[in-house]
Amino acid sequence: MDLIQSYLVFLLKMRRPLLLMVVGVIMILIYFISMGQENHFRVNMFKQHLEGNHTPFNNGILLPTPHVEICSGTSLRTFAPTNDSLVSETEWESLETDLQWQFPPVDILSSDNATNPTKCSFSVVNSHSNHTVGGFVDVILIARDAHNRTKTYGGDFFQAKLYNTELKASTFGAVTDNLNGTYTVRLALLWSGPAHVSIRLVHPSEAVQVLCQHREHDPDKVYFTGYFEEGGKQETAVCNAQRSSRLVGDGKQCCCEYREPVSGEYWFCRRPSSLPCHTLTYHSMGGYQAQLSQLDGTLLKSFTNIVLPGEHSVIHVNPGNVTRSKTKCHPGLNTSVPAGFYLQDHWTSLVCDSKSFPSAKLVSECLKDKHILMMGDSTLRQWFEYLDTSVPTLKRLNLFTSGQSGPLEMVDPQFNTRIIWRAHGIPIRTSKTPWADLHYIAREVEDLAGGPHSVVVFTLWAHFTTYPLATYAHRLAVIRMAVESLLRRSPNTLVVIKSANTGYKDVYGSDWLSWQIDVALRTMFRDLPVVLIDVWQMTSCHYSPDNIHPPPVVIKNEVDLFLSFVCPE
Ligand SMILES: *[C@@H]1O[C@H](CO)[C@@H](O)[C@H](O)[C@H]1NC(C)=O
Ligand SMILES: *[C@@H]1O[C@H](CO)[C@@H](O)[C@H](O)[C@H]1NC(C)=O
Ligand SMILES: *[C@@H]1O[C@H](CO)[C@@H](O)[C@H](O)[C@H]1NC(C)=O
Ligand SMILES: *[C@@H]1O[C@H](CO)[C@@H](O)[C@H](O)[C@H]1NC(C)=O
Ligand SMILES: *[C@@H]1O[C@H](CO)[C@@H](O)[C@H](O)[C@H]1NC(C)=O
Ligand SMILES: *[C@@H]1O[C@H](CO)[C@@H](O)[C@H](O)[C@H]1NC(C)=O
Ligand SMILES: *[C@@H]1O[C@H](CO)[C@@H](O)[C@H](O)[C@H]1NC(C)=O
Repeated sequence: MDLIQSYLVFLLKMRRPLLLMVVGVIMILIYFISMGQENHFRVNMFKQHLEGNHTPFNNGILLPTPHVEICSGTSLRTFAPTNDSLVSETEWESLETDLQWQFPPVDILSSDNATNPTKCSFSVVNSHSNHTVGGFVDVILIARDAHNRTKTYGGDFFQAKLYNTELKASTFGAVTDNLNGTYTVRLALLWSGPAHVSIRLVHPSEAVQVLCQHREHDPDKVYFTGYFEEGGKQETAVCNAQRSSRLVGDGKQCCCEYREPVSGEYWFCRRPSSLPCHTLTYHSMGGYQAQLSQLDGTLLKSFTNIVLPGEHSVIHVNPGNVTRSKTKCHPGLNTSVPAGFYLQDHWTSLVCDSKSFPSAKLVSECLKDKHILMMGDSTLRQWFEYLDTSVPTLKRLNLFTSGQSGPLEMVDPQFNTRIIWRAHGIPIRTSKTPWADLHYIAREVEDLAGGPHSVVVFTLWAHFTTYPLATYAHRLAVIRMAVESLLRRSPNTLVVIKSANTGYKDVYGSDWLSWQIDVALRTMFRDLPVVLIDVWQMTSCHYSPDNIHPPPVVIKNEVDLFLSFVCPE
């Protein structure tokens, strides 16, 4: 594509345009033939460029066309179909099924129409029967609006848990949308003694719609800054993951385009006025610029994350036996709901026979001869920092790199352990950091031999909540390709994915947005022999205040579960 564009420019400057044009037409024909059948979308794009119809594109995928109705009406569709050579039509359909959501069937005129948590109610269906550990309770929830009118459609985003404060016990419950204003929750009984149900409205369906529309239609609500430097001169420019109308501006300064050769991922910056594109030297967060109407703002602020006034009945659970999993922790296991439970602040997995690591020595021994590459955001950096502070034999090296984006490294010479953490690459909201230090996950994985001593951990969500779902799905598909090829050359490499956690609550990041991309991640990696550490459930049901960065007690449980897969014996 670039070749042809430069050729056209070249053509205009030449003295013998006719002869060159003939050569050019032949070149274009060869180009088309060589692209073959697999790259339809590129052909489409190319045609549109020739016709002067510049469709904004995103990593080589077409962005949703405006006439496709998404995030609205009775449609359960959350995103527009795209033509991405890495995500097949069948896979796209399966994503669509897993992510389907009901949106308000009418245009909302006032926040009075929105689900109001103070008017919602729920009741335990079988509250008086004889409960024993290993059983469950069902809860029916009725959603109502500000005028106490029962809602007639679904789409509210609730989170539910069963808990006992004294026992520091809790577990996560999945909420089923009956699509008629009622919801059902099933909660597993996993400890004996009293238990209470707690349900909170994270967002009413009317706010979910706002989030969805902003996600799909405004990929530039968060933007970044590129710093161009050469010979003592410095310039900055706006950068982002797509060449959108906001980035392009009036089009005169469009664009510096950065294509990572191995992963094929794109990044764009507005062209600096004097320095050339290749002088991009630093990257940082730019700013936030979502455009919310007054109603959108009210819907997002007023009803967010409010615990429902529930019935105060206590469920008395008689002693019984939890069927604890005897399966050795290994890659490829399905995540269940619930995936585990807290008791005395200790998380027991129901997916596999998880271990706890009460002493630093046990952790050191577990990490013996392991070389761990962690790639992700600050929530994965918490794992690195937790190990750094709790394991004395691990020694941190000063690499003089950015504390926010890394790379960071620590070693344990005694146990022959090496742990590296680095940011998952762009897009990343970080302080000013060298551009060359920001590596894509797929690129890092491609450059790794792997093997029985090699552990790859990644997480990817918090910095993707502002983009259309297609952008995220494409990034996952690229990483999946790299992981597949790593596991083909070294099948005994341990690949661990940390899921999203709860804690975000606005238009730039919200639990609903995180949940959607987390479901996409689970769907896209479900057939691969990798480990998924479900920290969503672990953070959603814990008693600590909602925080994008979970407290140390939760991080310890996350890391213990991770270590259970590193040394399952
Ligand atoms: C996707 O590609 C097919 C042909 O491969 C084309 O018919 C269709 O219109 C494209 N869809 C979009 C949304 O561009
Ligand atoms: C929205 O609220 C207004 C005012 O209370 C009411 O007249 C209207 O019927 C409501 N619309 C829906 C769809 O509930
Ligand atoms: C409840 O179940 C437990 C164990 O199954 C049993 O020991 C107890 O007698 C039952 N209580 C009642 C009131 O049925
Ligand atoms: C709302 O309606 C429910 C069911 O009719 C009723 O039990 C409740 O008291 C009402 N709440 C208010 C605040 O009127
Ligand atoms: C809503 O749907 C559920 C599940 O299909 C059903 O049991 C319930 O009766 C319905 N409620 C209303 C008010 O239609
Ligand atoms: C739990 O299991 C143990 C051993 O398997 C058994 O002895 C005990 O009776 C069981 N308890 C209940 C309440 O079922
Ligand atoms: C995981 O779940 C899928 C679908 O429910 C099932 O086909 C598969 O066998 C399960 N895998 C394991 C390891 O249990």
